[in-house]
Amino acid sequence: MRTVRSRPVIGTGVNRVDGPRKVTGTAPYPMDFDVPGQVYAALVQSTIAAGRILRIDTEAAEASPGVVTVLTHTNAPRLKRAPVSKLGASPPPPLQDDRILHYGQHIAVVVAETPEQATAAARLVSAEYEPTEPLLDLMDPRAPQVDDPWGTDHSRGDAAAALTTAEVMVEATYTTADNTNNPLGPFATLASWDGGHLTVHDTTQWPFLVRGTLAAVFGVPESSVRVLAPYVGGGFGAGLRVWPHVILTVAAARLLQRPVKLVLTRPQMFTSVGHRPKTVQRISVGATRTGDLVGIDHRSVSPVAMEDEDYEPVASGTASAYACENVFTQDRQARLNIPDPTSMRAPAQAQGNFALESALDELAYKLGVDPLDLRLRNYAEIHPVHSLPWSSKALRECYEVGAQRFGWYARNPVPGSMRDGNWLVGYGVAGVSYPWFAMDCYAQVTVHRDGSALVRSAATDIGTGTYTVMTQLSAECLGLHLGQVRFDLGDSDMPVAPQAGGSGLTAALGNAVFDACHQLLRRFAELASGDRESPLYGVAPEAVEATQGHVHPIGRPRLGETYTDILGRHELPELAANGHSRPRSQDELGMAPAGAFGAKFVEVRVDAELGLVRVARAVSVIDGGRILNEKTARSQIIGGTVGGIGMALLEDTVTDVPSGRIANGTFGDYLIPVNADVPDMDVVFVGDPDRGSPVGTKGVGEVGIVGVAAAVANAVHHATGKRIRSLPITLDALL
Ligand code: MOS
Repeated sequence: MRTVRSRPVIGTGVNRVDGPRKVTGTAPYPMDFDVPGQVYAALVQSTIAAGRILRIDTEAAEASPGVVTVLTHTNAPRLKRAPVSKLGASPPPPLQDDRILHYGQHIAVVVAETPEQATAAARLVSAEYEPTEPLLDLMDPRAPQVDDPWGTDHSRGDAAAALTTAEVMVEATYTTADNTNNPLGPFATLASWDGGHLTVHDTTQWPFLVRGTLAAVFGVPESSVRVLAPYVGGGFGAGLRVWPHVILTVAAARLLQRPVKLVLTRPQMFTSVGHRPKTVQRISVGATRTGDLVGIDHRSVSPVAMEDEDYEPVASGTASAYACENVFTQDRQARLNIPDPTSMRAPAQAQGNFALESALDELAYKLGVDPLDLRLRNYAEIHPVHSLPWSSKALRECYEVGAQRFGWYARNPVPGSMRDGNWLVGYGVAGVSYPWFAMDCYAQVTVHRDGSALVRSAATDIGTGTYTVMTQLSAECLGLHLGQVRFDLGDSDMPVAPQAGGSGLTAALGNAVFDACHQLLRRFAELASGDRESPLYGVAPEAVEATQGHVHPIGRPRLGETYTDILGRHELPELAANGHSRPRSQDELGMAPAGAFGAKFVEVRVDAELGLVRVARAVSVIDGGRILNEKTARSQIIGGTVGGIGMALLEDTVTDVPSGRIANGTFGDYLIPVNADVPDMDVVFVGDPDRGSPVGTKGVGEVGIVGVAAAVANAVHHATGKRIRSLPITLDALL
């Protein structure tokens, strides 16, 4: 397999190519687009969690200044539910009947000439309900159960039998809280119909999903729908589904035959675009007295909304984390009257890892061994589920490098033994094995007569650095410098790309770009090798490469000529090629495709009297395969770690019982880490390019958050002797 060689452009921490556009305010986010004649939508949301609408009064709203229309379930068009995508099914379309399934459900949309008029009129819509008792408790036996919807439950060996013979055992229940994605950019949709053709600017991580979903819901061909998202103000997973407000905006635009724009408010962001579902996890881990794992049983329950199909296999990551012959994992869901949960950065893994890596810490204390040594002792040298070598795995190096940089072995293992004045000091560690995920991806590359290149794919850059790393990779493959390459994305009219999600985009898109560039190079070489006037005459087309804008035989840069020379002699304005990447299965590779790995080391300080927890240091050592840009990759790990500190210590989306209202649905009330909560962070990348693909990257968008919560909880235990099994760890638990 032809692979990328490290040359100057890849790997170096170049600045974001879209940075100047962002800091000068010229990068248009979905809410920044305007179309002549557009009107504005505002949502009306349910104030009960379950029941039905008896009467909805829209008269006052309709009579309000500037109002163009008010849609409710009584007059909204009937819509089909969109088909299932690779990441699950879309939520049911809105305004289809009088039933209320959660607090904050959209019950009307008001459209007016200005946003202020729409917002004012939306307040005039009043509804009369027939409420029923909502199901809000995850452990409520009346909640309808969903068993293993994707077949991800795992069983090998006989975990139950192994656990009965274990010499040392930990059995405990861990819980994690509802968290809300809260990207900074409010979600926005601008929809305009031109006859049967629909154009939508939307906050999404996946333009092709939006295109396919809207085509199905509105009964038009996919080719009649164009979805644009050149800039997205963050997503953390919230942009992986097509939400009811998007469908409402498109429906209103079609009815009115006018462009309609909707921007969610921050409180609406808490109920309209998903959240990380809470979990209750029961885990049993058994070992021999010398610390060899003999059995793991990990069962999780998490909520799903009443008619939704979202799913997170919370316990599943445990199956491939350690060398252990007897493992059982099980995921169950309970249907509740809550807004739709959805993927939030490292869905399932962030929660499941907390239970597993906390339980291992408990086991280490019971065994009297070092928590890091326990992990190394049970290191999975081959993939424990597939029994194949990993396509890459440098987790051991993560542990070793991290332990050294952090000073792990200076730790006195006795809980409560390390002190700095009034602060109890604790060190905690967690290991992370992030699952591999990939989808098909396409890209197109064009080199113009002036020697510049345009590369395109319908991907998105949700702040992760896609524009930048793909510009670098294209430049590297084409032998151009960064300023000669433009990478365009965020338009469903471009070649098909998967979601910016599952930490899979950089690998899928990178390999597609790599393929496209090599196809194009070959086209240039074919032109030149058949041309007596070319210095490449007679050279085998597959034996060329490009450096500094020259196409030349591999390793012989002096023998070539420029793209411009070739295009000029053939009187061509440009030459283009398409590229494709597809995930390769373990059967094809003879290896288990590996995602990223990581080790997290955290120092906490706990105020002995007040129970206040501060994270003092965090070291993240990550095996992300080939790192295309050290700076943007580091930024992903830093951001993930900050998110992890939030999950560990602060974030908790509180549902009021029995109303079902989100009680803290603003940035004033929902706590996230601010600068004062975030310590200096050390981020190190280790490992080699992954052997499973030509470019060899593994995604680093999610691995950074995983393990932080367990490392913090383990450090809190080390500092205080208190084992906190419920997130977030707030000071009341430590008093
Ligand atoms: Mo991520 S939750 O796959 O954006």
